[in-house]
Amino acid sequence: MTDQTVPSPPLSGPPVSRWWGCFPELRRDTLGFLVHCQAYGDVVKLPMGLVVNLLLRQRDAAMYVLNHPTDVKHVLVTNQDKYRKAPVPPVESRIFGQGVLHTEGETHHRQRRLLLPFFHGNHVTAYTDLITCKTYDLIGHWQDGTTVDIEREMAYLTLSVIWRLLFGRDTGPEANTIREAIAVGQSLIKLQYDSLLASFTPLWVPTTLRRRFNNSFRAMEAMIHRSIHERRMATHQHDDVLALLLATRDTEGRPLKDEEIRDELMTFLLAGHETTANALTWTWFLLSQFRSIRERLTHELHEVLGDRLPTIADVPRLRYAKMVWEESLRLYPPAWSLHTRVAQAEDQLPSGARLPSGAWVFISPWNLHRNPRWFPDPNRFDPERFSEEATRNRLPFTYIPFGAGGRRCLGESFAELEGLLILATVASRFRLHLVEGQTIQPEPVMTLRPNVSVKMIVQRIDSQEPHPVVA
Ligand code: HEM
Repeated sequence: MTDQTVPSPPLSGPPVSRWWGCFPELRRDTLGFLVHCQAYGDVVKLPMGLVVNLLLRQRDAAMYVLNHPTDVKHVLVTNQDKYRKAPVPPVESRIFGQGVLHTEGETHHRQRRLLLPFFHGNHVTAYTDLITCKTYDLIGHWQDGTTVDIEREMAYLTLSVIWRLLFGRDTGPEANTIREAIAVGQSLIKLQYDSLLASFTPLWVPTTLRRRFNNSFRAMEAMIHRSIHERRMATHQHDDVLALLLATRDTEGRPLKDEEIRDELMTFLLAGHETTANALTWTWFLLSQFRSIRERLTHELHEVLGDRLPTIADVPRLRYAKMVWEESLRLYPPAWSLHTRVAQAEDQLPSGARLPSGAWVFISPWNLHRNPRWFPDPNRFDPERFSEEATRNRLPFTYIPFGAGGRRCLGESFAELEGLLILATVASRFRLHLVEGQTIQPEPVMTLRPNVSVKMIVQRIDSQEPHPVVA
């Protein structure tokens, strides 16, 4: 809603290049630059520069970083119909196609209505045993005192879980193909972030990286198409996402095309494991740095589980584990930035700022979660921030690791359960120590991942060893 009579305060922002706008600064240190922007007010204007103005044929093209939760709510919830996701760069468009992540309007509503029940309620809790057993299998291979690449371990684990949800069977050698395709995809996307030229170059322009991407991606697509084809031939019933998609009919009774099914499966495959794996990796990293927190967690797990694997009935009692998980998602939100939204018409935000039609709105969980106005001493790892009382007293929309509104994460309930169960299963049996000499920094690409592989030494928690007592 706009009101011409309400004066809008002028928006400020850090100085940027006339030609290249905010991009050199964003490229140099994306996360640091975002936090730096907090000093310029609730809404920070970042001009995109003359080159982008020319490319977009738009005068004064700018990004607007939202620092205030009331404005965040306005864009994501109250006035969400007035905003759309910005067009996606070629690599992402090739990966996700017309899956639920990138569609808009009625198509998007229909896709969400179809998929939401699968990722909620009993349907989610039914996967408890699958998650704990897969985790137990993984740590069964860990030898006391050896070193593991924890990001890799978590990625293969969460991949094996989502694969079962989608296709109702275990992964085999496919897992390597998928991880290879994702690694190449991430490198290409990083290149797009780092170079304006790369983000405007069509995918068919041949470079070594693009060729590798096209090859590995074709292999991954072929696997998905093969699974669709085999299932169409199958005679017995399945209860997985593929079965749901194959049974779907549009308003005229027509089934989904293979391409539509492929796009949904690809979206869930990628959105549904990389994020959770990153969140867990950061959780292990943080726990390795804070011994007292790790010991309190071990104590709770010992009290609640003893030597058992967690069941769904244990979940409400794993209170501290949940606080650790939530605080880890605050400090290292895998979705460090939401997809940029574009204002479809001029709009006035609750803070008073007036956004022009076509404004690119940038909402970053990383930035909101590290703002000292909402989280004092924001860089400190402190699970107490998620005690019941602290959570009750916090302003809504300051903590949004899963987004908000009509595009809130479809897999949120599943990810919460999966994260908690994996954390509890592993931490009740192993302590993870960071191998010394590594400098781990967050790298914002499609997800917020560590800049190097995180090597950790796994130490079995000896059942004979007394569990730490917490005062
Ligand atoms: C810790 C793990 C996860 C985090 C932090 C996370 C975060 C998010 C966020 C922030 C969004 C909204 C993006 C935006 O508004 O621009 C989103 C969307 C989405 N997520 Fe997740 N996610 C996680 C796990 C999962 C899992 C396990 C699945 C699937 C099983 C999933 C499926 C999706 C889908 C399909 C969307 C698109 C929803 C839509 O546009 O309607 N996510 N996720």
